Amino acid sequence: MSAEEPLADTKPPRRMTTREFVAMKERGERIAVLTAYDYLMAGLVDDAGVDCVLVGDSLGQVFAGEESTLPVTVDQMIYHARAVRRGLRRALLVVDMPFLSYQVSAEEAIRNCGRVLQETGAQAVKLEGGHAAVAETIRRLVDSGIPVMGHLGLTPQSVHKLGGYRLVGRAETEREALLGDAQRLAEAGCFSIVLEMLPSGLAGSITRGVPVPTIGIGAGPECDGQVLVLPDMLGLNEGFNPGFLKRYGDLAAQVRDAVSRYVREVKDGVYPGPEHSYE
Ligand code: KIV
Repeated sequence: MSAEEPLADTKPPRRMTTREFVAMKERGERIAVLTAYDYLMAGLVDDAGVDCVLVGDSLGQVFAGEESTLPVTVDQMIYHARAVRRGLRRALLVVDMPFLSYQVSAEEAIRNCGRVLQETGAQAVKLEGGHAAVAETIRRLVDSGIPVMGHLGLTPQSVHKLGGYRLVGRAETEREALLGDAQRLAEAGCFSIVLEMLPSGLAGSITRGVPVPTIGIGAGPECDGQVLVLPDMLGLNEGFNPGFLKRYGDLAAQVRDAVSRYVREVKDGVYPGPEHSYE
């Protein structure tokens, strides 16, 4: 390198903030969100330019093989979120609060959400639901300095109440309730709202009606951003085929192929060869 050559820019990228999230909506910039549950994947999705990483309680299903998100605990969320945090340089880190960690009382919610922020380095938490009690809890959390992402529509922690994983908001009563819930969450101070499994038109009406970004999953193109569950979009979760899902990879086939070649080479005595051995 000559004396005149400028030093390479080694400054770390500017970390995303919840304020920047809202500013992106104001600028009409779409927001790309993915879930992650571990350090290596978090580093890859951050490098690839995702704006926000959600440590979703979907880890109960796609990481732990549970039937629903209901068994997930605060300690498990903290364990995964700490690992993800170490992999991120730029993306906003949001952590899902699991079932029963925020529903019992606002005080318990503040303790649990505060603990998640303190112990993981996350910048925000996500809570499901939009009725008055959740909105009041969110107001208390935001007043305590804890940024909150809301989540409406198909709220998986209420799967038994909803009667299954289904589209929500086709019936007029559900539609009216969701429009009201979205307003309530925005007024309570949510910096963003996930809309899961809603008709596109309804998601568009909600998106135009609130000042904070909506992040859709199965909610059509009119949301301000999109989120997908990482193993689903990478093609690792072969049994999960909802209509909204686009697979951007076929990792299950690649993993199977790599592992079967390894097994064959070990059994045939091909691996390790001399190039993988020490003198
Ligand atoms: O748990 C999760 O991964 C989620 C996303 C689907 C939004 O809540």
